[in-house]
Amino acid sequence: MSSPTVHVLDDAESVAAAAADQIIEAATAAVTARGVFHLCTTGGSTPAALYRALREPSRATRMPWAQTQIWFGDDRFVPRADALSNVFSLDAQLLNPSADGVASPLSPSAVHPWPTAAADAPTAVSAYLGELRGAEVPHTPTGFPIFDLVLIGVGSDGHCLSVFPGSPLALDGAPVAAGVPAPTHIEPHLPRLSFSLGMVTSAREVFALAPGAGKAEVLARIFSNSTTVADAPAKAALIPTATWLLDTASAASLPS
Ligand code: 6PG
Repeated sequence: MSSPTVHVLDDAESVAAAAADQIIEAATAAVTARGVFHLCTTGGSTPAALYRALREPSRATRMPWAQTQIWFGDDRFVPRADALSNVFSLDAQLLNPSADGVASPLSPSAVHPWPTAAADAPTAVSAYLGELRGAEVPHTPTGFPIFDLVLIGVGSDGHCLSVFPGSPLALDGAPVAAGVPAPTHIEPHLPRLSFSLGMVTSAREVFALAPGAGKAEVLARIFSNSTTVADAPAKAALIPTATWLLDTASAASLPS
């Protein structure tokens, strides 16, 4: 099976800049082909720099914002206004007016957060899957949404989305999405809502963003042959449709 593309850049800012440029390319191609760009973004701290890079005037003018719809691969089961929610970072960096009062190029209706006001996880999950159908996002025969581009981060334990090592969401035949109990080994210790790995492998394109020395050990494990997807779920993105954007610090321990 052919492998993913791996780019090693200088640092986290270069990773954010490269990711932003490649998102604009993917968005332009999707809009040309299908009239719309469905982007599924990731959580964690890494996307903030990417959102800022996308908002820089030289890029913001090239991004087809009006045809862009933004979804989330996972979120913490907390209110949108909670700083620990993944949508909070997007709101702060991309949707709210900038520090110098410039309005966001993105319409609030183009952002689709997980419905964390729902009474429970099954209700939130079925509502979100219903919203995807309502938005006419294409789906696989097995029910996975086919996003134009999925962004994932990589946790220090090898997780992506909120699919942690040993998770049933890492297994073949897993449900499309589900509630995830609060992890005890990874911050924040909050319950989650997450797609399973089939969403990553069903996407037209995947960008894995993993800059920083803190990722070097886990990336070495992910790229080694001695681990499985169950051990390190982010391995599911070692696929030909994926581009891994690393920096010299995070790539330092990769097999040559
Ligand atoms: C989450 C994320 C998670 C994240 C990784 C990397 O909700 O926490 O979706 O999968 O991408 O934990 O996080 P950092 O970018 O903060 O290193």
